[in-house]
Amino acid sequence: MGSAGKVVELNAGTKIPLVGLGTAAINQNPEEIKTAVATALEVGYRHFDTASLYRSECALGDALKEACLKGLVAREEFFVTTKLWSEDLDDPVSALRTSLKNLKLEYVDLYLIHWPLRLRKGSSFPIPKEEDFLPLDLESAWKGMEQCVHLGLTKAIGVSNFSCKKIGDLLSHAKISPAVNQVEMHPLWQQKKLRDYCSKVNIHVSAWSPLGGAPNAQGSNGVMDNPVIKEIAEKHGKTTAQVILRWGLEQGISVLPKSYNKGRIAQNFQVFDWSLTAEDHSKISRLEQKKANRGEEVVNSTTSPYKSVEELWDGEI
Ligand code: A2P
Repeated sequence: MGSAGKVVELNAGTKIPLVGLGTAAINQNPEEIKTAVATALEVGYRHFDTASLYRSECALGDALKEACLKGLVAREEFFVTTKLWSEDLDDPVSALRTSLKNLKLEYVDLYLIHWPLRLRKGSSFPIPKEEDFLPLDLESAWKGMEQCVHLGLTKAIGVSNFSCKKIGDLLSHAKISPAVNQVEMHPLWQQKKLRDYCSKVNIHVSAWSPLGGAPNAQGSNGVMDNPVIKEIAEKHGKTTAQVILRWGLEQGISVLPKSYNKGRIAQNFQVFDWSLTAEDHSKISRLEQKKANRGEEVVNSTTSPYKSVEELWDGEI
């Protein structure tokens, strides 16, 4: 399978495949993760997204190792992203070495600061307690990230869940510019301002939860049930998920859909050989915006660096 139109070049000089398999499913059975990765490789995925927080690194590493041993794929043919958890902000190099051991890899393609947040070891998850928050020093964390590049532990570094303002602050001291900002993005949270800014400073945007995320206690954010998107899907003879993913690709971003279902993993990769119309884009651009993950759990009025959701996103919400 050719890679034309399926990858873009990052400012670090490496190429990122535009559809990646997300593996953020804490407590997912390792065998299910391995099967999902093997299926994804078979249908053409060459990009896998994990994080130390997700606990999927080991299973992903096992599946990739197995595929390499079988000769199905070579290391330089796939792209792996992992992320620095907020408890490890003081020592990105050691944290990445641990991730690499889990992944059974000598390097990753992309290492991201998972959240602009510093927590003490053993913090309560998913809602940190007041005593879990530590003062944030992103400048020193970024130096550690740069060190990861110098040591050859990653090809590129970047951030996740950063606003324009936080990226601007980072660029004011970074020796290596972030290659990627991975954020929530889908038709109901289009991130226009952030995308325009990232494009101007040559930072690629990747979308986590491009389908709006799995339904949780609060229900789904509705992107998969949106009547406008459903209608567009029907018109093209595609599924709602495919329209949502194709829309992301046509915005110039990469998308990281998660699925543990063989048919849906395959379906989510069939988004390259057709396109949306200008009218489809116009309809989608008018959808009411609603961020699914507002980050309320990392906001408090005492110890968090963010006293409000507006502060966390620098008003970009
Ligand atoms: P499943 O694993 O059963 O396929 P996101 O990537 O936005 O976080 O969304 C992940 C959720 O969307 C998972 O619950 C996943 O469930 C579901 N999902 C993934 N792909 C599709 C698809 N093509 N159609 C419907 N649901 C999907």
